[in-house]
Amino acid sequence: MGCMGLSHGYGDIPDEADSIDAIRKAHDFGCDFYDTAEAYSPRLAGIGHNERIIGKAMKDFRKDVVLATKLHLHTEEARSKGIYQTMEEHLQASMERLQTDYIDLYYLHRVNPDIPVEEVADAMQKLIDRGLILGWGMSQVGIDTIRAAQAVCPLSAIQNIYSMVERSSEEDVIPYLLQNDIALVPFSPVASGFLSGKVSVATDFSHYDDVRKFVPQLKKENIEANQPLLALIEEYAKRKDATNAQISLAWMLHKYPNVIPIPGSKNADRILENLGAWNVIFTEEEFKDLDDRLNALKVSGFRGHVEFQGGSMASWGRKR
Ligand SMILES: NC(=O)c1ccc[n+]([C@@H]2O[C@H](COP(=O)([O-])OP(=O)(O)OC[C@H]3O[C@@H](n4cnc5c(N)ncnc54)[C@H](OP(=O)(O)O)[C@@H]3O)[C@@H](O)[C@H]2O)c1
Repeated sequence: MGCMGLSHGYGDIPDEADSIDAIRKAHDFGCDFYDTAEAYSPRLAGIGHNERIIGKAMKDFRKDVVLATKLHLHTEEARSKGIYQTMEEHLQASMERLQTDYIDLYYLHRVNPDIPVEEVADAMQKLIDRGLILGWGMSQVGIDTIRAAQAVCPLSAIQNIYSMVERSSEEDVIPYLLQNDIALVPFSPVASGFLSGKVSVATDFSHYDDVRKFVPQLKKENIEANQPLLALIEEYAKRKDATNAQISLAWMLHKYPNVIPIPGSKNADRILENLGAWNVIFTEEEFKDLDDRLNALKVSGFRGHVEFQGGSMASWGRKR
């Protein structure tokens, strides 16, 4: 379960009690993998809003689940304190907010071009050796960065954007991750709602703190151009008695053994709907047909899976 929307990125946030209730319902349903970040707070102002909610929600079951959070490394802070001490301080603060004394999966949220990933990997190894984290990962990275980091401290997971409309990680990242026993944790796996089929050109994304204003596939011209893809998903949704969002998630679950999507929603019913994608099982023949027809479609709108700290949302979709 991706928890970001409970604090940031998709307009108004739910009441804290509703967010806690949604996380507990997800756990009761069988969810054992939760994604957050120190940065997830309303309007990205402040730190730790999302982590605090999760800490309260999972007090009774924290040890039963895989808990992932992320840090940003800022140049001045890392220069003045050193990389390891900076990372340890961020980690300790996250753990306090999450009411835990270890993190299962600790990600570098974005590579800072001023800070070599080898040095981050070395610090992650020390945090692993101390038992403070069980594994580590990076987000929005290409193959060269992954190779460089893996050579210093083996990675557990890479969190890149990945969905039926954002497939650039398939080129060289996923093959490398498969070879090296590293998971891919796709973020925005429902393409920020587009693949659910519930978004139309009339949907209003004018709210404050709403990333959908910048998502390439949610621009009017791309929503219109990508309707054949929605028709294909809809056809399979009817055939499998599932929802569109479930089909888009079941597709990636079937396609790769190391893919663990983290769909996000502010609504408890939709969180359970998305988790229910694990019940949608394709036959090999069905999957081949779906995948072949998807491969034959032209997809409009692209963000890509390589970004650096300091990049702006306004640049999404300018590549390619
Ligand atoms: N590493 C990174 O840089 C990064 C970046 C972005 C996100 N993430 C992580 O990835 C998680 C998921 O990404 P995301 O939230 O951006 O994108 P997402 O899961 O692709 O989509 C979330 C959006 O889709 C809607 N939606 C989800 N399921 C739906 C369904 N079944 N039917 C209709 N609408 C549905 C949600 O609306 P409602 O809320 O109204 O249901 C929300 O607007 C985040 O929670 C966060 O943990 C990481």
